[in-house]
Amino acid sequence: MPGSRDGTSGPALLEVREVTVRFAGLTALSEVSFTVAPGSVHAVIGPNGAGKSTCFNVLSGVYRAASGSVRFAGAELTALAPHRIAALGVARTFQNIALSGHQPVIDNLMLGRHRLTRAGFVSSGLRLPAARREWARHRERAAEIAEFAGLGGLLGTPVGLLPYGVRKRVELARALCMEPRLLLLDEPVAGMNAGERAEMAGLIAEVRRGLGISVLLVEHDMGMVMRLADRITVLDFGRRIADGTPGQVQDDPEVIRAYLGPSADQEDK
Ligand SMILES: Nc1ncnc2c1ncn2[C@@H]1O[C@H](COP(=O)(O)OP(=O)(O)OP(=O)(O)O)[C@@H](O)[C@H]1O
Ligand SMILES: [Mg+2]
Repeated sequence: MPGSRDGTSGPALLEVREVTVRFAGLTALSEVSFTVAPGSVHAVIGPNGAGKSTCFNVLSGVYRAASGSVRFAGAELTALAPHRIAALGVARTFQNIALSGHQPVIDNLMLGRHRLTRAGFVSSGLRLPAARREWARHRERAAEIAEFAGLGGLLGTPVGLLPYGVRKRVELARALCMEPRLLLLDEPVAGMNAGERAEMAGLIAEVRRGLGISVLLVEHDMGMVMRLADRITVLDFGRRIADGTPGQVQDDPEVIRAYLGPSADQEDK
């Protein structure tokens, strides 16, 4: 399936331009700009409190920018509600898991498909044959995505019974169930052991390579960022301090200062 390896061809899929976000007395993002090429993995990194999650919250419509613009596939996102942004093809996971623990994996995945339903199989309560057929179609696709995410044998297992690393993959699979063009992942391997990290990194690489979905990744695991990302934007205290390929960013004196200076003692948290 399509998805250019270097992510440099064609116009930007996402264009963040001079975005500023303020909370009472604090500028969490200050005129931050970057672009995400179609079919690429783009990482946003920086020390704790740099503004990475704030940036994701603006892109997904949870926070409103004070100024600046966010364009996705030609549409301006900054004034849109989260469900409208999701409908345009931007899906996200959260830094802290947001799954329904007592429900089985398949039900959690079906939640991800709600925006795609036409007959509304929930509201009609599956009484109508058309709604039943649509439900079956969506369930089949959700099962396919579960298989892709290595969850094939776990469809009926309540999410709360799964190990942490597997729950994080359920969350990613749920986001994939929205059939996004851009997937926002906020710290997908935080709290994972080495084996779980490797599995998740492999899955993210497959999302891009196999499904052609662009990925915007916030992650503190630098090894993973350097291996996966085509391009990296570095934030520090709400400002963009660097932007480039992993090699360029790694050697940037300001990046080294941000990570090794007095404010950056937790980069491998
Ligand atoms: N809803 C909010 N209200 C007030 N301040 C906020 C809010 N959300 C974030 N902030 C502040 O904005 C700054 C950036 O926070 P953000 O969560 O974006 O950082 P981060 O880069 O994701 O950090 P971490 O690596 O620890 O997750 C911080 O100083 C944080 O306290
Ligand atoms: Mg964060």
